[in-house]
Amino acid sequence: MIRIKSSDEIEKMEYACRVVAEALEFSKELVVPGTTTYEIDRKLEEFLISKKVKPAFKGYSGYPASTCISLNEVVVHGIPSKRVVLKSGDVVSIDLGAVYEGYYGDAAKTYVVGQVSEEALRLLKVTEKALRIGINAARPGARVGDISHAIQEHVERNGFNVIKDYVGHGIGRELHEEPQIPNFGKPGTGPKLMAGMTLAIEPMVSAGDWRTVLTSDGWTAVTVDRSLAAHFEHTVVITPEGARILTTCKGGN
Ligand code: MF3
Ligand code: CO
Repeated sequence: MIRIKSSDEIEKMEYACRVVAEALEFSKELVVPGTTTYEIDRKLEEFLISKKVKPAFKGYSGYPASTCISLNEVVVHGIPSKRVVLKSGDVVSIDLGAVYEGYYGDAAKTYVVGQVSEEALRLLKVTEKALRIGINAARPGARVGDISHAIQEHVERNGFNVIKDYVGHGIGRELHEEPQIPNFGKPGTGPKLMAGMTLAIEPMVSAGDWRTVLTSDGWTAVTVDRSLAAHFEHTVVITPEGARILTTCKGGN
């Protein structure tokens, strides 16, 4: 069952989502050579708490941190660590979630550290654009498969591959609600979208093989061929006019 949210519920999500967006904005200045991903996690957790929201990931299925920080070939769920030090050339995705009065927000962005390859820049551009295109496909009457297809088509047309082992999701009273939103699929298939649905749309893209493996910590997902990966995510609400991004700072960005 896909839950339709009331305007009161959406207001709570708006707050959780805005703080997530502000934290991601703040994280831009934290992504510099020499910083550990542990330090970034600490600062972002402090930021969330200072804004009166709870980190959504900490303790989720036993996850040990407030953020997921995934470098280079790590696709998602990189655990922040004192041993992971950022250096010029790294591609770093930061994924974070917050809960406010029981309502969730979730977003991710991928950043570059210093100078990176042309391919890395193109990967980020294509993945971020795929998210925009997916969001544009999310309107009342459309189906989940329309979002999935739009994302896959843009990514593959640009010579990259969508990750299939992880998917986007409904969000609201839980971090993960129905429906699942794969980044691949056929138009006109899957659940129908309606105003009041709240979704986390999150293309994860590999510059090489789309298959992933887990490392020994049981969380970190890396591309099997160790090729670069990128991840962008927004929480959106479906309105009669189309999808509205909730994980945005006041004034929009
Ligand atoms: N944004 C991711 C997701 O939506 C991260 C959550 S994983 C967690 O699934 F376990 F760390 F919470
Ligand atoms: Co998510």
